[in-house]
Amino acid sequence: MILVKLKGLIVMSKKTIRDIDLKGKKVLVRCDFNVPIDKKTGEITDDRRIVEALPTIKYLLDQKCKVILCSHLGRPKGEANPEYSLAPVAKRISELLGQEVPMSKDVIGENAQEMSSDLKEGQVMLLENVRFHREETDNDPEFAKKLADMAEIYVNDAFGTAHRAHASTAGVAEYLPAVSGFLIEKELKFLGDSLDNPKRPYVAILGGAKVSDKISVIESLLEKVDTLIIGGAMSYTFLKAQGYEVGDSLCEPDKCNLALELIKKAKEKGVNLILPIDNVVGKDNEVDENGKLMSEYKTVPATQMPEGWKGFDIGEKTMELLKHELKSAKTVIWNGPLGMFEIDEFAKGTNTIAEALGKIEATTIIGGGDSAAAIEKAGLADKMTHISTGGGASLEFLEGKKLPGIECLMDKEKCCSREDDDGDR
Ligand code: 3PG
Repeated sequence: MILVKLKGLIVMSKKTIRDIDLKGKKVLVRCDFNVPIDKKTGEITDDRRIVEALPTIKYLLDQKCKVILCSHLGRPKGEANPEYSLAPVAKRISELLGQEVPMSKDVIGENAQEMSSDLKEGQVMLLENVRFHREETDNDPEFAKKLADMAEIYVNDAFGTAHRAHASTAGVAEYLPAVSGFLIEKELKFLGDSLDNPKRPYVAILGGAKVSDKISVIESLLEKVDTLIIGGAMSYTFLKAQGYEVGDSLCEPDKCNLALELIKKAKEKGVNLILPIDNVVGKDNEVDENGKLMSEYKTVPATQMPEGWKGFDIGEKTMELLKHELKSAKTVIWNGPLGMFEIDEFAKGTNTIAEALGKIEATTIIGGGDSAAAIEKAGLADKMTHISTGGGASLEFLEGKKLPGIECLMDKEKCCSREDDDGDR
């Protein structure tokens, strides 16, 4: 149980940093600083995950805590590798906090131990990438204990990694009082409200490449939404399932039966399932050194995608249809781009929908990953109600799965009679 409904309000059933005495304590904070870094310049190209961690860090500093931050970056496969060093993150947090945040050379080694034991009230340090040890992803109890031994309290604020049962996201909670930070609390509030308490009409937009990645989330959303829009390469499997040709588009023929079942389920549930009515198709997606598409492209009806061409975006008619549908929506959740938005020629569908979302009076929730990147790229981030910092984590949450990084935290004491508690998830 992560969220409970209490007198109509969704509240978190896990303790947060507000619920315990932190004054002067040494606190280990797991953040998700897995941010994109330009390999050539070493610069962080999107610091949202760092910015979103600041409220928790600042609160802990106000409480005169000694703060030890930790995170992973990329997938270094259990080996120390400078390419995956968190050094650029330490630099960026220092700039954003306006105070020096030194980083230890190791994770649980001599340097980390020394630096953490020398930490004074109101100081912050960062441990090197926890994934430099295989024991992190193995959730090794000894490794988790060594991390825990550096602190008195554990705070998890790494929503983006909450779906991983790793040593620093879950294992460490065996050895320390464990609570959530403000970012996890915020994410659960927005994502949880959209599932359990949405204003209607409630529209979900799902894109991305594969149906197989999104089956559970489609099934779960069909129980909740009024309209489900399916775009991106995933839609070609749905078109193929209905007997239409999809040319050379990405498609999962072995998932056609499943797509038909989902169409049937939508009908049974009275959910308005919308698929593209036209698509932008191209010969290829190769670009020149300026990022310009090198081959031809055109718009065709969704039912007539020609042989030798691949679908890369939704067409104008679909954009109009979706804009119309979104006008009356009161809650919209979006996960997965509607086309290959990294290429300008195929970004129009995704951008048009992002712009439409920016204009409507609705709660708009962007489910992390590529859709968040698309919104950032379009410069529309501040127009959305909430952009999740979790890709996989937000998907798993929407599927109704339990997230180990949240399950491991301490429960709030029961504060009410059973009559007040009218549901949980
Ligand atoms: C993410 O970017 O989705 C999280 O940081 C988790 O990363 P992972 O998929 O490598 O565990």
